[in-house]
Amino acid sequence: MKIACIGAGYVGGPTMAMVALHCPEIEVVVVDINEERIKAWNSDKLPIYEPGLLEVVKECRGRNLFFSTDTKKHVGEADIVFVSVNTPTKTTGIGAGKAADLTYWEGAARLIASVSTSSKIVVEKSTVPVKTAEAIGKVLKRNCQDPNVQFEILSNPEFLAEGTAIEDLRHPDRVLIGGSDTESGRKAIESLASVYAHWIPRERILTANLWSAELAKLTANAFLAQRISSINAISALCEATGADVQQVAHAIGTDSRIGPKFLNASVGFGGSCFQKDILNLCYVCESVGLKEVAEYWYQVVSMNDYQKQRFVERVISAMFNTVSKKKIAIFGFAFKKDTGDTRETPAVDVCKGLIRDGAKVCVYDPEVTAEQIFRDLSAPKFEWDRPNYSRSASHMLENVQVVQDADAAAEGAHAICVLTEWDAFKTYDYQAMYDKMTKPAFIFDGRNILDHAKLREIGFIVYALGKPLDAFLQKNYA
Ligand code: NAI
Repeated sequence: MKIACIGAGYVGGPTMAMVALHCPEIEVVVVDINEERIKAWNSDKLPIYEPGLLEVVKECRGRNLFFSTDTKKHVGEADIVFVSVNTPTKTTGIGAGKAADLTYWEGAARLIASVSTSSKIVVEKSTVPVKTAEAIGKVLKRNCQDPNVQFEILSNPEFLAEGTAIEDLRHPDRVLIGGSDTESGRKAIESLASVYAHWIPRERILTANLWSAELAKLTANAFLAQRISSINAISALCEATGADVQQVAHAIGTDSRIGPKFLNASVGFGGSCFQKDILNLCYVCESVGLKEVAEYWYQVVSMNDYQKQRFVERVISAMFNTVSKKKIAIFGFAFKKDTGDTRETPAVDVCKGLIRDGAKVCVYDPEVTAEQIFRDLSAPKFEWDRPNYSRSASHMLENVQVVQDADAAAEGAHAICVLTEWDAFKTYDYQAMYDKMTKPAFIFDGRNILDHAKLREIGFIVYALGKPLDAFLQKNYA
């Protein structure tokens, strides 16, 4: 058996590496139009940072795992073709700002059709709007010259989380495979299930109809994001009432019906999927006339935007209503720890908000390059999810500095904003930083990871998200 995967990104690369690792008899080739990315996959500096990924890749690369730009050859030869390309939010035209742009998906389907001389199973790995398989089926059928070639489309959405991708792929809660309820559909589902069964217990391999599988992915992300927005909404109320969001989260999380996960209040969710997939879900709802359902889910995104804006306003109001020309150290730019991914990171909105008020931000992140930070801070909304984004120009910005260590960021700064929960941030010598900062020195902990009592002892004015406010930060403090 030969498997090809179109799209060597955060999903295509790790998922295919895991398949190759556990299925040594299957040849797995990941193809991409981005030459630089493929070059990086073939080197020791992989294009994405993910704990444990390099070890897996090294074990099977050159054995049965290959990365190539020769899309036509490998897709043409494959029995199963995964499609894991970008499905960004549309920026223009009908549905701009919410609908999924399926340009890249359709391009991949046309390619598959044009090079196929044998029947294939085509697997939707990208997150797509419900009913995409129907459209893709038509594209495949109408563009293939050989009438004997049959395509069976499966939906196999990916539930991995960045930062823990390898662990998630090794021991997934479930694998979901959706297909047609026909003889060939059931056969295709079984072929794909038998690949996963190399390392995943059969009872964890769920099957469903195509539309349920497509919709399950959008729903899973909507529910996860909703939990974050829910606890973030409560964090605002905690600050207004003197309650502590961590105590509230603990109290509700011990209820087995609610459970403890995804209850950390923060400066907001990020990542390539949550916002995009909810907007997409809303658009699908609107398209079928379910206005109230769409509005319900929009609120999850609005609450996230509110949380980022609220954080910016806290910083500015605490610092005497002006951050103009003040140096503000930004600790962390990735959308969460253990990844170098900055897509939809709240750090972009927070930095832009502070810069709009005249601040000079000085950013440090252990995994994100200066080039990436400048590119993100100068790019228009949704632009990051295009295949050529990583090759687009990165502009220097007057009020942004990127440094190689946290001490340099804090030196002379008026404030530190913690925007990513990197473990290393917890163990810094904050006394030494305090000594070199402008006074009063502020810390705005957007992730609630620092020892706030200790920081207050040092002399910092501390804002901890969703926690009782320091007297200094209260409006009536003189
Ligand atoms: P990515 O941007 O990292 O990778 C997509 C890759 O596809 C890029 O390298 C791009 O050059 C390539 N590509 C685009 N069009 C192509 C074409 N016609 N031929 C060959 N290569 C092409 O994106 P990522 O994060 O891997 O996401 C892919 C899909 O998976 C999206 O639909 C996303 O929503 C979904 N997803 C992402 C997750 C994540 O954590 N990043 C998790 C679960 C699903």
